[in-house]
Amino acid sequence: MPPPSTSAKVVNVTCIGAGYVGGPTCSIIALKGGDRVRVHVVDINQQRIDAWNSDILPIYEPGLDEIVKKQRGVNLFFSTDVAGAIEEADVIFVSVNTPTKTYGIGKGCAADLKYLESAARKIAEVATSDKIVVEKSTVPVKSCEALNRILRANSDGQKFTVLSNPEFLAEGTAIKDLMNPDRVLIGGPQTPRGLSAIKTLSSLYEFWVPIDRILTTNTWSSELSKLAANAFLAQRISSINAISSICEATGADVQEVARAIGQDSRIGPKFLGASVGFGGSCFQKDILNMVYLSKSLGLNEVGEYWEQVIKMNDYQELRFSARIVKELFNTVSGKSIAILGFAFKKDTGDTRESASIYVCKHLLDEGAQLNIYDPKVSREQIIRDLTHPSISADPSRVERQVRIVDSSYEALKDTHAFAVCTEWDEFKALDYEKVFQSMLKPAFAFDGRLILDHASLQRVGFQVHAVGKKFVNSFDDDTNSPSPQKASRGGF
Ligand code: NAD
Ligand code: UDX
Repeated sequence: MPPPSTSAKVVNVTCIGAGYVGGPTCSIIALKGGDRVRVHVVDINQQRIDAWNSDILPIYEPGLDEIVKKQRGVNLFFSTDVAGAIEEADVIFVSVNTPTKTYGIGKGCAADLKYLESAARKIAEVATSDKIVVEKSTVPVKSCEALNRILRANSDGQKFTVLSNPEFLAEGTAIKDLMNPDRVLIGGPQTPRGLSAIKTLSSLYEFWVPIDRILTTNTWSSELSKLAANAFLAQRISSINAISSICEATGADVQEVARAIGQDSRIGPKFLGASVGFGGSCFQKDILNMVYLSKSLGLNEVGEYWEQVIKMNDYQELRFSARIVKELFNTVSGKSIAILGFAFKKDTGDTRESASIYVCKHLLDEGAQLNIYDPKVSREQIIRDLTHPSISADPSRVERQVRIVDSSYEALKDTHAFAVCTEWDEFKALDYEKVFQSMLKPAFAFDGRLILDHASLQRVGFQVHAVGKKFVNSFDDDTNSPSPQKASRGGF
């Protein structure tokens, strides 16, 4: 354990949980705070901590490597010494996972708060001085109250002040988001001690965030704002995905519709990207959390309203897979399909709730042979996801039907079709003439991310299908005459 700081000016920050939030957030606090802070990130997972201390960090996030390597050992430390880090801290961020419960009451809906509770119990057990405890994890409203009670009930006279400070970073852009946040939200008790703790926490962010972007609220507003923000973002995606299904059935183009509605300043252009479905560790979990909360409060209609956002997302993933089956002459059994991308979005290796997993599951159920390629997801992770009990009960089938390869070209060779499931830039830059030559004919392209040049693909000879678009492919008209889309865009 690194020696605690003795300088009065230095704030000792500890973060419990060295994951996608704890690691990047603390790296930025260390970078921006310089010699005014000393940051210690701890975790019970030794392997994860070893990775944070190695050349290959446990998570891929653009820009993160440089910052960690600059600050590590200077004012940023990673260890498994949870007790020591609690003891030395002035401010303790609790940034542990809060997944959807997989057992008992609220199974499949409520947040599992056991990791949060065990962190709180550990703080109460080992702390010998006053602490500001910051709830960084995303939690149901009123969780701060539970934290407070656990801490107070186990305190030996030390004073704990619990604040809510939810994190709004998105994976793949975490460093950018942390460096230049739209806002930092701090909720806390409106008492003299609460207000003083809010001031101390705010001062950490003031190292680099303009004060007018640091919002302070009461605790419950802060907790609920995090759930609400994710619910609103996910709801926009489900809304545009609902529109995409109408586009596919009618010939309207979802990107044209998104542009037209996004120009309305009341709607705005962001998060209107139709896709194969949203994934990630947050959206589904946090909406389910809100559904459970609403229903527990007797607000059934509210719960059902938000539930629909998830149902639409499941429908979108299924619709994409079903379209592949339908276009491939109603059967993919024994056919070879390349899956381009397995992460839930580009610029991350995270696969939690990735739409790719569900597309693969549907296609495996239909008997397809899959060649899967992702630039940042390991073979082991893909197998773990596809053989998870909720996805496939039969690992031997995954072994028979799945091949994980090291490049797009290898994945595409000798396949009947390919499906873009993650919007990695490298998929846009492939030589699709070469790809076409290497595939079986007719060669099908399914763009689940709207990143490809569809007109050029058609010119090359592909049968092209994309979310929210209805193309006329050479098969669809007997004359083979070019469709308007075929003629409209430039080549690769
Ligand atoms: P994660 O699973 O990547 O990391 C959590 C870490 O906490 C794990 O390494 C785990 O070993 C550790 N941990 C669990 N219990 C512990 C304990 N008692 N003591 C020490 N370590 C413990 O999770 P994450 O993606 O970083 O998310 C953390 C929280 O932040 C969640 O509540 C999540 O909803 C929220 N959040 C996540 C994101 C995101 O993009 N991933 C964004 C905003 C908010
Ligand atoms: C989200 C929130 O954006 C972030 O503020 C919060 O802190 C954590 O949850 P994250 O899940 O990391 O972040 O990524 P995000 O960029 O929101 O994307 C989530 C999913 O939605 C991805 O699968 C992405 O591909 C998909 N998406 C996003 C769309 O399908 N269309 C869009 O227009 C935007």
